[in-house]
Amino acid sequence: MATALHFILLFSLLFMPSSSAETSDRPKALLIPVFKDSAKLQCIANIAMWTPTSAVSFTIDIGGQNVFVDCEKDYFTSTHRRFACGSARCNLAGSRNCINNSCGIIANNTVTHVATVGDLGSEIISIESTDGKYAIGYVSQRHFLSVCTPSYLVGGLTNGVQGMAGLGRTRVSLPAQLSAYFSIPRTFAFCLSDAPGYDGAIFIGNGPYVFSPDVDASTLLTYTPLLVNPIRTYSAYVQVDASWEYFIGVKSIKINKKVVPINTRLLPINGTDGYREPRSARVLFNVSFSAKLAPPNKELKLLK
Ligand SMILES: *[C@@H]1O[C@H](CO)[C@@H](O)[C@H](O)[C@H]1NC(C)=O
Ligand SMILES: *[C@@H]1O[C@H](CO)[C@@H](O)[C@H](O)[C@H]1NC(C)=O
Ligand SMILES: *[C@@H]1O[C@H](CO)[C@@H](O)[C@H](O)[C@H]1NC(C)=O
Ligand SMILES: *[C@@H]1O[C@H](CO)[C@@H](O)[C@H](O)[C@H]1NC(C)=O
Repeated sequence: MATALHFILLFSLLFMPSSSAETSDRPKALLIPVFKDSAKLQCIANIAMWTPTSAVSFTIDIGGQNVFVDCEKDYFTSTHRRFACGSARCNLAGSRNCINNSCGIIANNTVTHVATVGDLGSEIISIESTDGKYAIGYVSQRHFLSVCTPSYLVGGLTNGVQGMAGLGRTRVSLPAQLSAYFSIPRTFAFCLSDAPGYDGAIFIGNGPYVFSPDVDASTLLTYTPLLVNPIRTYSAYVQVDASWEYFIGVKSIKINKKVVPINTRLLPINGTDGYREPRSARVLFNVSFSAKLAPPNKELKLLK
């Protein structure tokens, strides 16, 4: 499968390990192919879930808190399980709502900014394992947590998409749950392609991340520490909670060797004020990612 990859981002999940694995399968790393909807600028992953197995389409949300799925439309499975208020899994998912004894979790469509409270449940999920170079075969996690939402929440996402898969710094994001379950390092990498029709991938676990012609993309990365924003940027949360999005310390931005004129006083993240300018800084972040973290001008191809 040909893939032109323009940059790759590596994230470390900064949180404590949670419950132990329930399986003897110990993959070294996991691989989730993604493709881009260039019209809507969304990255989509089809993930094998449910019983009988179905390919469920998710829009990827790098800073997303959890995984949510439309449970109203085309939702057929016999392995769905719900969790009661106050249960261990409900607490793990950070529930603050107990409605009719169901574990209410906020699900946020960060594309449309429509949010609702859904019901925490679990499902079986199957993901390809990889040695960093080849896909080896599928491994399954039986009680993967996701939030069940009404259909309207997926409005505005790519046609056919059934939910959003958050990769954020929580214990119930997609990489966090898979890392904890399979006891693999809490690191993930996200390779994006900006060419229509080309694929990218999410790797969960440490490198190598090998693309043809035999290039280990993990050796091409530029490293920068991830910062924790002490103040959550989202409306529905009290200001004292730390953010689950990823932040990097941007001091200035150069494009084609020219410094972009910006108000640098807006950039620092500090314990008092946190980071309060989500819109301007988010635009700056993706500019700086593509400008600074681009590997040498080489076309990488994903080996499958
Ligand atoms: C509470 O749950 C019960 C059983 O699932 C259901 O019959 C009832 O309509 C629910 N009540 C509300 C207010 O949602
Ligand atoms: C949903 O996410 C957006 C940012 O993507 C944020 O502005 C908004 O406050 C969030 N809504 C809730 C209810 O958390
Ligand atoms: C925190 O950052 C803001 C700008 O975002 C600045 O105005 C404020 O003085 C800073 N506070 C400290 C304690 O550094
Ligand atoms: C950065 O992201 C914002 C919102 O996600 C988008 O509007 C903007 O066009 C992006 N900028 C670039 C250069 O990709």
